[in-house]
Amino acid sequence: MPETIIEPFRIKSVEPIRMTTREERARLLEEASLNVFRLAADGVLLDFLTDSGTGAMSARQWAAIMEGDESYAGARSFFRFEAAVKDLTGYPNVIPTHQGRAAERILFSVATKAGQVVPSNTHFDTTRANLEYSGVEPVDLVIPEGLEPKSRHPFKGNIDLEKVERLLAERGEKVPFGMITVTNNSGGGQPVSLENVRAYSRLLERHGKPLVIDACRFAENAMFVKMREPGQSGQTVKAIAQEMFSLAAGCTMSGKKDALANIGGFIALRDERWVEAARNLLILTEGFPTYGGLAGRDLEAMAVGLEEVVHEDYLRYRLRTAEYLGKKLLAAGVAIVEPTGGHAVYLDARDFLPHLQAEDYPAWSLCNALYLEGGIRGVEIGSVMFGKRLEDGSETYHNLELVRLAFPRRVYTQSHFDYAAEVIADLKARAKEVRGVRITKQSRYLRHFTAEFRWA
Ligand code: F0G
Repeated sequence: MPETIIEPFRIKSVEPIRMTTREERARLLEEASLNVFRLAADGVLLDFLTDSGTGAMSARQWAAIMEGDESYAGARSFFRFEAAVKDLTGYPNVIPTHQGRAAERILFSVATKAGQVVPSNTHFDTTRANLEYSGVEPVDLVIPEGLEPKSRHPFKGNIDLEKVERLLAERGEKVPFGMITVTNNSGGGQPVSLENVRAYSRLLERHGKPLVIDACRFAENAMFVKMREPGQSGQTVKAIAQEMFSLAAGCTMSGKKDALANIGGFIALRDERWVEAARNLLILTEGFPTYGGLAGRDLEAMAVGLEEVVHEDYLRYRLRTAEYLGKKLLAAGVAIVEPTGGHAVYLDARDFLPHLQAEDYPAWSLCNALYLEGGIRGVEIGSVMFGKRLEDGSETYHNLELVRLAFPRRVYTQSHFDYAAEVIADLKARAKEVRGVRITKQSRYLRHFTAEFRWA
């Protein structure tokens, strides 16, 4: 067998990438006030800003789109979607939403009360923000290895069961349910083992608490389980995913990730509790329960996507992509979060730009430099995203300065990743030339999306 893992698809339709020069990118970046969120996507060569909703759909998905039934109530597309979700999760109550955060908002509105606390390995930003919006405290209890960029633990997304036990002992009456994010996006896209979910689920059950899975990247997680967890290599990825869902009371899902769709999401629940209240809120804010803020065709695309995403050739190639780029970067002396996760590679900007200080926002500077040098757009996960300007004008800084390069599904080929590796290695050799940045304008919340900068 050849070593090379090829893209397991042929390309039927292409979208041209507009080539830009460094001079042009310098101008575009200035016009965007040194904030890559403010760039027009047309000026980006490789867009690694996110893997969310940016994937390529298959010929089968496009065919299903034409089958979309746009009836307001009881559309055929809903039943097809519902059957796909039930088959995968085993949960009979399926509530479509326009994307993951709508699923979170609705579930938290009906299943939590102000003053409660919800543990997880690491809550994603929108999950955290939606809990806080409901007056609930989100707590992140990932294992210590999950916070160390160089630790090579196979399941760095696992939740720390001792810490959960302590939380339940001390504040158990305030915990409505436990959550777990698979894979752990904010912790480097790292997987969670089946054993960890099983033990977490049992622990919660002993305290009478249900488990809710944030299932955005359930298939990538299941593939890691197949490859790394003792005793799992003989299982199909679908069976592993089904077993994981069987350990929980329900899930929230962004269809923009592992449903291989450009838009969509859902809540799925095992029993009736929360269902009626969630459907009522859905009607108020998203749409009728059989379309939930989506078009029938979007439900079709997700139904097919959920079937395709558990194909193991696809997942092998998918995980291999991050590993391939990661290996090239390590060989060039670039520090990254190791081992590589499912959907992204995370560069350690402090290591890349050791001459910059916290107030220079190293990860933000590195993001800008990647765009300038190679037209590559990543996202800062550092002090612009997680730090704050306080009333007295001083700043708080984040403990990590990372640049996430997240990979759209089935979009880029190996030569795109070779190009990315080359750009990053060249930049590493000239890293001293990269200057820090200063914020000139910012908003109070989620400032990274809109802030304006100048070079330091
Ligand atoms: N949960 C996780 C783990 C996520 O990664 C995301 C989105 C959401 C929930 C929310 O889903 O975007 O459909 O509302 N993550 C994207 C990202 C935005 O770039 O990582 P959504």
